[in-house]
Amino acid sequence: GKAPVKVLITGAAGQIGYALAPRVASGSMLGPDQPVILHLLDIPPAAQSLDGVKMELIDSAFPLLHGVVATTDVEEATKDVEIAIMVGGFPRKAGMERKDVMSKNVSIYKSQASALEKNAKSGVKVLVVANPANTNALILKENAPSIPPENITCLTRLDHNRALGQVAERTGTPVSEVKNVIIWGNHSSSQYPDVAHGTVAGKPITEAVADDAWLKGDFITTVQQRGAAIIKMRGMSSALSAASSACDHIRDWVKGTPSGTWVSMGVFSDGSYGAPKDVVYSFPVECKDGGWKIVQGLQIDEFAAGKLKATGDELVEEKALALECLAEA
Ligand code: NAI
Repeated sequence: GKAPVKVLITGAAGQIGYALAPRVASGSMLGPDQPVILHLLDIPPAAQSLDGVKMELIDSAFPLLHGVVATTDVEEATKDVEIAIMVGGFPRKAGMERKDVMSKNVSIYKSQASALEKNAKSGVKVLVVANPANTNALILKENAPSIPPENITCLTRLDHNRALGQVAERTGTPVSEVKNVIIWGNHSSSQYPDVAHGTVAGKPITEAVADDAWLKGDFITTVQQRGAAIIKMRGMSSALSAASSACDHIRDWVKGTPSGTWVSMGVFSDGSYGAPKDVVYSFPVECKDGGWKIVQGLQIDEFAAGKLKATGDELVEEKALALECLAEA
């Protein structure tokens, strides 16, 4: 059989970690013929809970799971990993300023960048899930100069999948028939969920839905605000769908997107579509041979251009704030 792949999950004692680890262990991410060794990292206050997760993973007897390393040591956690899913982070608590949360998180991503650079396998693929996801990924990239920038990405696939789900529900179509939506920009409420190039069973989404007011109004805000809506309903964050989407992101990146389809990924921007350069911006990408490429040549109308610019401006501003936090640290 194949040699096992070491997969790092940080923040593994948290909510998303609890939903993600079993999916990776059961083959949802790398496929039914690829054994894995899970490296689970969390911080000392969560160490006991992390050991509990390890016990449950052992008890699940996943045939593909060839080992579990549960640790609070970032050096041990990052050793020889080929996939790194960065879920660990500091949550925003009541009364905290945005800058305080930013400051906590960017310092985490700065130090974990160094550990990854030092210990991970060359060619490691990194997916940042923890918020602010785009900016955490950027800080990780800046502090791991020997990891190629194209190997560092952030999760906007959840937003992408949310957009697919909304269109599927609205048109009464199985979600597998909905393709090529796009999430542009930041994984925040400034993101632009774009259906202008998407299809439902081969027909343009705009025609299949036939309700422009909805597509330009409630559809967009529903996708943008979905995270908050789930927290309101569950009293907890959207851990199940985040974990599922993280698996989708890595699977498509490693195995490729089906021809003629694309997915959304937060990637280091080359300035395509007028996006700011040197930020991590979500684009439509096609994946092949373990790499991704931004889909080029899509028509951007005036409505879309304004949205792309607004979310890009927010990322530039976030980057400045992050750099300010690191300079003060
Ligand atoms: P959680 O609070 O349940 O889990 C986070 C875990 O990270 C905790 O166990 C905590 O101890 C750990 N942690 C904190 N600092 C760490 C460090 N330095 N190293 C390793 N682990 C550390 O949160 P949850 O619900 O699992 O969410 C995790 C993150 O994912 C949050 O930042 C959340 O905002 C973000 N998120 C992102 C989504 C996306 O689509 N990009 C969707 C949903 C959540």
